[in-house]
Amino acid sequence: MELEALVAAARVARENAYAPYSNFRVGAAVMGASGRIYVGCNVENATYGATICAERAAVCSMVAAGETRLTAVAVFTDCSPAASPCGICRQVLVEFAEDAPVVVASPESQSVLSLAALLPKRFALSSGANLNG
Ligand code: THU
Repeated sequence: MELEALVAAARVARENAYAPYSNFRVGAAVMGASGRIYVGCNVENATYGATICAERAAVCSMVAAGETRLTAVAVFTDCSPAASPCGICRQVLVEFAEDAPVVVASPESQSVLSLAALLPKRFALSSGANLNG
């Protein structure tokens, strides 16, 4: 039920996607540990490289509101199969959750993936190798 609300929020957020270059519109929603839902959409840029993905936009909204733990993620696109988060977004999501259900949804399909499974062997500063260069 909570996941359904999250998917619905991602679907609505997608309506505001700014994607004049790719025309690929993405909506995302994350649930904070408080139960509050934060949304984001992709915001493209003429430089292409400055484009912000929907998932990271949603995470930034959560952090700006004062939350740093998330319990679930939903991504809504209009493609088949439904798109799952890109690599950069996976790394940003795991910053705020060891694991969480990630619902990838489209008008035709919906499936629940695991954040930990989406990003095995994540980068972490606490692994001495990274700290010591
Ligand atoms: N995009 C997202 O919003 N999330 C992802 O996980 C992958 C891609 C956006 C970026 C760009 O605006 C469009 O989808 C096409 O790559």
